[in-house]
Amino acid sequence: MNTFFPACIFGMLVASLSLAAYGEGDANAGKALFPVCMACHGPQGLGNQAMNAPKLAGQEDWYIIKQMQLFQNDARGTAPGDMHGMQMAAMAKGPQLQSEEALANLAAYIGTLPNTTPTATVSGDAAAGKKLYPICAACHGPRGEGSEAMSGPKLVGQNDWYLVGQIKKFKQGQRGYHKLDHGGRQMRPMVAMLTDDKSINDIVAYINTLN
Ligand code: HEC
Ligand code: HEC
Repeated sequence: MNTFFPACIFGMLVASLSLAAYGEGDANAGKALFPVCMACHGPQGLGNQAMNAPKLAGQEDWYIIKQMQLFQNDARGTAPGDMHGMQMAAMAKGPQLQSEEALANLAAYIGTLPNTTPTATVSGDAAAGKKLYPICAACHGPRGEGSEAMSGPKLVGQNDWYLVGQIKKFKQGQRGYHKLDHGGRQMRPMVAMLTDDKSINDIVAYINTLN
């Protein structure tokens, strides 16, 4: 870990420098693009477990734009068996979303939605999870608030069932597998320490306490 970690941080910096720049989005223009998203992510972007669609409200604009671009570029949602990722990838390919401006507008609109704390659904041992969390803090922040410099998304306030599901996707290689997905490729080795379902539930239970 000692030699791997600085190398991986260097990789993160390179990855964030290579991200395309985008201006401030126009939330009003973005609102017109959002109705199609509501079917799965909910009218207020609060997520819908029945559709496996995560909460979008409260997530940072840079992360939303980046994920949309990964889906558009076949760098996410193309792994065998990833049915939910494939559904989302089809949505990201909508003709009206194929410009950075449109994505910035959409993200700006999502930024106006109330960031309601979701109901906890995962039960785990938060005290045990706390012991596992420090390594995550390097990229996701000590309070799970996210770090744009490290490309680490905000984890706090996300649906807990989604966090569990995504950690499993990283473990199974259904995320972070594509050469364009620099952030996902940094994240993937991090889940190696979460060796069983219990440790995954424990760490997510701890993230729930950061709300
Ligand atoms: C048909 C249902 C559906 C529709 C419609 C849909 N999504 Fe999704 N979306 C999903 C699912 C399912 C996932 C989770 C994919 C996974 O498990 O990797 C997802 C994931 C995402 C993510 C990744 C979030 C994260 O934290 O990883 C973003 C961003 C997103 N959707 C934005 C949108 C936007 C913006 C729209 C409207 C243009 C939209 N989605 C429309 C189903 C949908
Ligand atoms: C080296 C930096 C780094 C470390 C350390 C790290 N992550 Fe990540 N993580 C990332 C990046 C970057 C992404 C976004 C990947 C992408 O863009 O697809 C991510 C994504 C995630 C996601 C998906 C969130 C979403 O909304 O899509 C979860 C869940 C997650 N990490 C949990 C963890 C946990 C738990 C730990 C500690 C065991 C951890 N991460 C450690 C960099 C890191």
